[in-house]
Amino acid sequence: MSPQTFVMKVSPKAPQKRLILTAAEALRRGGLVAFPTETVYGLGADAFNAEAVKQIFVAKGRPLDNPVIVHIASVADLKALTSHVPERASLLIDRFWPGPLTLILRKSPDVPDDVTGGLDTVAVRMPQNKIALALIKALGHPIAAPSANLSGRPSGTTAGHVLQDFAGKIDMILDGGPVAVGLESTVLDLSRKPPAILRPGAITQEDLEPFLGRVVMGRGADDKKRSPGTRYRHYSPKARVTLVEPGDETAIARLLDQHAKAKRKVAVVARHFTAGGGVRPIVRIMPPDLEEYAQQIFAVFRELDELGVDEIIVEKTEEEGIGVAIMDRLRRAAAR
Ligand code: TXA
Ligand code: MG
Repeated sequence: MSPQTFVMKVSPKAPQKRLILTAAEALRRGGLVAFPTETVYGLGADAFNAEAVKQIFVAKGRPLDNPVIVHIASVADLKALTSHVPERASLLIDRFWPGPLTLILRKSPDVPDDVTGGLDTVAVRMPQNKIALALIKALGHPIAAPSANLSGRPSGTTAGHVLQDFAGKIDMILDGGPVAVGLESTVLDLSRKPPAILRPGAITQEDLEPFLGRVVMGRGADDKKRSPGTRYRHYSPKARVTLVEPGDETAIARLLDQHAKAKRKVAVVARHFTAGGGVRPIVRIMPPDLEEYAQQIFAVFRELDELGVDEIIVEKTEEEGIGVAIMDRLRRAAAR
């Protein structure tokens, strides 16, 4: 496709107009531009250009039935995407947008089927990142953007990660530095009662319940139909991931022993780790604070892949606040 991928450093506080216009022009021509959001980098195309949206799937190696999120810059942009915004959605929009909350809404016929994987709903969010918002405004159309990573790999949280996966395959990367959150947005399905979280993120069940009453975590066979992305192994480093209970250094020592016998290159990702016995693994000590943990985990996975690690032993985190989203990603990374 594109012979050269331009990387442009953009100020996250005051995005340079000239750079944003250049990127918007590439999108207008049907190109692909990666850009930062507060959650992870997105790989964007003009949401109303079906051909361009198809190229996202080609670049990522993404199954065609896995729909992508549409990013908007103002509530007025919703008009082009859906004919009806339910009252419950409006409450959430007032409180959480711009921010890491994706809402599944009934789609308007104008939204290309390539965006929604043929579903009658569309996933929408307004990102809280000045570069993303400026780009959407400059294009004058919503931007369809999945996370900027090859399908199945950990989402890109820096421009460098995006370049690793897409050098020579996309037109441009807007480098706005490392992202703030580090995990993808919460995906909320309001079309059923009670509403269901199809993918946990920084906005939690407890954050949503005051506005909606009971909210359930969407798991199970029916949910796989509703959020096709949950069907696939995801967020995975190339190395095999094994989870251990918090503080269970005995389990870690046992695994290290096994791997040493098999001559595998091993890493331990934990918040507490002192042992190791005779085996010296690569160790990445994670921050105690869950928000900081979330911000770093995908970068750690990618770094360990670069080092050619075969096995990653990961200590589980507590499942509260953003820890629910962290554990969701860790479990998927460990799924075989
Ligand atoms: O934070 C994020 O959400 C990032 C940034 C770039 O905004 N985007 C992102 O997109 O993570 P993606 O495509 O990697 O994940 C979108 C998820 C997938 O699990 C997909 O199946 C689900 O949202 N999804 C999209 N449209 C849907 C729909 N109409 N109904 C149900 N699930 C949908
Ligand atoms: Mg993704």
